Amino acid sequence: MWADLKALCGADIKNLFDGTGRARDFSITFDGMLFDYSKTSLTVEARQAMLDLVNERGVEAQRDAMFAGEKINDTERRAVLHIALRALSSAPIMFEGEDVLAGVRAGLTKMESFAEELRSGQYQGAGGPITDVVNIGIGGSHLGPEMAVKALLPYRDGPRCHFVSNADAADIHDKLEGLDPTRTLVIVASKSFTTVETMTNAETARAWMARAVEDPASQFVALASAEDKTKAFGIASERVFGFEDWVGGRYSIWGPIGLSLMLSIGPKRFREFLAGGEAMDQHFVHAPLGQNMPVMLALLGLWHHQVCGYPTRAVLPYDQRLARLPAYFQQLEMESNGKGVTMDGTPVEGGSGPVVWGEPGTNGQHAFYQLIHQGTQVVPCEFMVAAEGHEPDMTHQHELLVANCLAQSEALMLGRTPATARRLMAAKGFEGEELERQARHRVFKGDRPSTTLIYDKLTPRRLGQIIALYEHRVFVEGVILGINSFDQWGVELGKVLALELEPVLQGKVNASNKDGSTRQLVEFVRSHW
Ligand code: F6P
Repeated sequence: MWADLKALCGADIKNLFDGTGRARDFSITFDGMLFDYSKTSLTVEARQAMLDLVNERGVEAQRDAMFAGEKINDTERRAVLHIALRALSSAPIMFEGEDVLAGVRAGLTKMESFAEELRSGQYQGAGGPITDVVNIGIGGSHLGPEMAVKALLPYRDGPRCHFVSNADAADIHDKLEGLDPTRTLVIVASKSFTTVETMTNAETARAWMARAVEDPASQFVALASAEDKTKAFGIASERVFGFEDWVGGRYSIWGPIGLSLMLSIGPKRFREFLAGGEAMDQHFVHAPLGQNMPVMLALLGLWHHQVCGYPTRAVLPYDQRLARLPAYFQQLEMESNGKGVTMDGTPVEGGSGPVVWGEPGTNGQHAFYQLIHQGTQVVPCEFMVAAEGHEPDMTHQHELLVANCLAQSEALMLGRTPATARRLMAAKGFEGEELERQARHRVFKGDRPSTTLIYDKLTPRRLGQIIALYEHRVFVEGVILGINSFDQWGVELGKVLALELEPVLQGKVNASNKDGSTRQLVEFVRSHW
């Protein structure tokens, strides 16, 4: 599938701007957003060939199957209906003959009632109104709310939210330090309510709270789909917010897992966030393929990784409040499409999803952009920036931020020729061989691809749109690769072996059946205990 397409690679990006309106032709606008993918090597012919793949691989039929509640996650025999959690205004969404929206709306109303009670001070801790919320969860039960709460801090008018995820005691220790347990709410966010890191941290938090609060469970909330387990933990059912198994962990920010976000920004703005996600769903379903943002973002991902062979892609938001977005996308993309086999169990052709990484600009510019500009491997960059910031009295800083973002994509594409580098060195007084040597260090090859997603302002709605955009991008890439994007068997083995190793480290079980390296590491640790 990819070999034929490789022949279409190799256009010099800047030469594609030939006065025929490439910027507009290779861009998509939708609801306050502009996605510009003109600074990539995709030509008209290559784009058509990539679009043909969408038809050949049955993306639209799979998309419709997802929205119709079919069990497209077939290794877990589950439907994939996180889109129902943000379907505020659309037609019924059926699963096994029933409209799931009634349950979704009841769940949302329950969250909203609790949020209003807490935010108004009607629901209190032992020492008074809740000032701080600690969300304990990991992976999909952590990254989304942590990312979104930070992203939308300008809209916060509720309690402060803190996030604990790591099994490392340092995490919970540092987050609880300085908090008043009598005015803190602990949210235990775990779909399965069995994840060892989360349950261990939840017990630590309960013990911390029990030192100051007579009935610590009264200040605990559970976000889980396992009511028997939340009951056993002692959390009353009115503070248990459940969700169905058709919501995957890394797609769960839209429902109860988003409770901390709702507490932070309030139910009304949380609905705006959902509405943004829903708007992107509608766009994904109805926009023609060539004008479809998730489809084109996915095709560019495949173009860069599977066709051009670039091993990673960088997500570079020019927004400090999106600092956790690259981590969120890492789970979304790498846990979804980091698979070695297709649906039918045969090896994935041309490799699975790429490594996804990133940091906010401008910080990254002073760290790793050196490699992006002059290193020997090409890193497609996905820039993101808002036209308007949230600090009206500091617009000069926002201008500087936007200028940097735009300048980077320009520099990556244009580079600096040897002739220009020589001129620069000559102006500095260099001559002869030394001029040549100095100039070579200052050459930028250019022709490095990037896309830019620019939007008016990072509001709750825009954030919802951006997340849904990437969710659908992952979906489209997964369908074209033939991968099940909704299971995550690759995280199982490490969990199983960690369980086995704990008693070995404790000296209760002999390490003799372990490999030499693991035995050595165990011995080192035990010699320090
Ligand atoms: O890392 C595997 C995983 O299952 C993720 O997919 C999930 O988001 C995370 O663990 C947490 O799971 P849970 O919400 O059940 O605690």
